Amino acid sequence: MNDDSSTATVAAELRTAVATLRPGDRLPSSRALMARHQVSPVTVSRAIALLSAEGLVVSRPGSGTYVAERARAGGRGPADRAYAWQAVPLADRTVDAGGVVALLSPPPDGVIALSGGYLAPELQPTRALATAAARAVRRPDAWERPPLYGLRGLREWFARTAGGDVSAADVTVTGGGQAAVTLVLRALLPPGAPLLVESPTYPGALDSARAAGLRPVPVPVDEDGLRTDLLAEAFAATGARAVYCQPTFHNPTGAVLAPDRRVRVLDVARAAGAFVIEDDFARHLGIDPPPPSLISADGEGRVVHISSLTKATAPSVRVAAVAARGPVAERIRATQLVDSFFVARPLQEAALELVGSPAWPRHLRSVGEALRRRRDALVSALAAHGLRPALVPRGGLHLWTALPPGTDDMALAEAALRAGVLVSAGRRYFPAEPAGPRVRLSYGSAAGEAELADGTARLARLLGPSLEHG
Ligand SMILES: Cc1ncc(COP(=O)(O)O)c(C=O)c1O
Repeated sequence: MNDDSSTATVAAELRTAVATLRPGDRLPSSRALMARHQVSPVTVSRAIALLSAEGLVVSRPGSGTYVAERARAGGRGPADRAYAWQAVPLADRTVDAGGVVALLSPPPDGVIALSGGYLAPELQPTRALATAAARAVRRPDAWERPPLYGLRGLREWFARTAGGDVSAADVTVTGGGQAAVTLVLRALLPPGAPLLVESPTYPGALDSARAAGLRPVPVPVDEDGLRTDLLAEAFAATGARAVYCQPTFHNPTGAVLAPDRRVRVLDVARAAGAFVIEDDFARHLGIDPPPPSLISADGEGRVVHISSLTKATAPSVRVAAVAARGPVAERIRATQLVDSFFVARPLQEAALELVGSPAWPRHLRSVGEALRRRRDALVSALAAHGLRPALVPRGGLHLWTALPPGTDDMALAEAALRAGVLVSAGRRYFPAEPAGPRVRLSYGSAAGEAELADGTARLARLLGPSLEHG
C-alpha cells in the first residue's frame, strides 16, 4: 500500500468508529492503529489530521484522540454533508499540525506540566511586557506601517544577538520562530526536496517541512549535538541542499554542538554546496553562557540564522528574526512580503522597548537562575528514581531521558496524564523510527521545584516495574 492509500484506510476505520461512538469517547490509540494496519506513526497522524480538519475528532496531546462534540451536533447533519465535497480537492494537501498542537495546548487544570514549549507563567516578564507595550502603543505612529523588514532598532538588536559581522541590513523581522522556520524552508527548498534534520528534533520544524512538501531525512544527535561524522554521507546519499539544526540548547535533548563540530558543520555544508539553517531559538535561555552562533563564523552566506523572542518572554510575543546574506536574503524578504507583508508595528515597538529596558538584563539573569534551580531539581528527582537524563542541559527548557527498554512512550504519556502529569512522548521528535523509548521533560514550564519532584515521582511510579527490571 502506498502512503495515501494507507492514510485513507486508517481514516476510514476512524470514520466508522466516530459513527458508532459517542462524543467524548476515545478512539483506538495510535499504537493500535499502527499495529492493525502495519503503518507508520506519520500515516496514523495524517489520518487523524484529516478527520480533525473535518471536525470529527479532537486530539488531546499525550492523552489520545476523541470523538468531537460537533460530531454529535452536526457531524452527520446537513451542514457537514454540505462540506463533504472538500475531501476530494484537499486529498493531496494534508497538513499535519500534530507537533505544534502538542506545543500549544495548555495542560488540563490541575495537571503538573512537565511538558511545554514556553517559560512557566511565573517566569515570564509580564510586568515589564505590560510597561513596554503601554509605552509602545502611546506613540503617534504605533499603528502606521513599519519599515517593511522590521524596525531599525529591532533589526540591530537581532543582528547583535546573531553576533559576528551580522548587520541590521541582513535581518528580517518575522512573526515568531515558527513563521521564520516555515519562511526559510519555503524560500530555500522546492517541494519534494530532501531536508537533513537532527534526529531527534523539534516537531514543529518537521510539521513545517512536511507542510512545505519537503522530506525530512534524519541525522543522529548525541550529547555533543549533531553527528557531523554522518553529515557528509547524508548529504551525499540524499543530494540535500540544506540541513536544519539547533546548535545551542537543542530541543529536545538540550545538547550544545561541540566546538570542533561547529567548524565541521560549516565545512561539510560547504563541500555539499548546501545551506545550514541555524535555529537559535533558546539563546536567551542559557543556564551557562551560550557559545557563539554558527552564523558568526560564516563569511559566505552559508548559514541562515533564526532567533526568536518568545522563548525568553511569552508565547504571544510573536517577534523573531531571520539573518541571511546574499541572494537568499532577498528571497526570504520577498517571500515574507508576499505571504504576510510585515509584523504588526505595535508588537515590534513593544519588543524593542522591552529589550532596550533595564528590566531586560535583570529578567534574563533571573530566568537563568530559575532554570538552573529547576534543572537541578529535576535531575535530582530523576536520580532518586533511578533515571538519568541523556545529558545535563546547560540551557533551554527541556531534558531528554531514555526509558527502560520496551516501554511504550505513548502509552506512558497517556498513563502519566491520567496520573496528573503531562510529559512529551519521545516518538514525535523523531523524523523516522525512534532510536528507542524516550521522554522529554520540561523543567522550564513546570510551576516550580516541588511540582518537578511530584511529577517525577508520579512518572516513576508508572515506570516502577520496568525500572526495577530495566
Ligand atoms: C526549536 C524551536 N524552534 C522554533 C520554535 C518556535 O517558537 P516560536 O514560534 O514561539 O518562536 C520552537 C518552539 O517550541 C522550538 O522549540
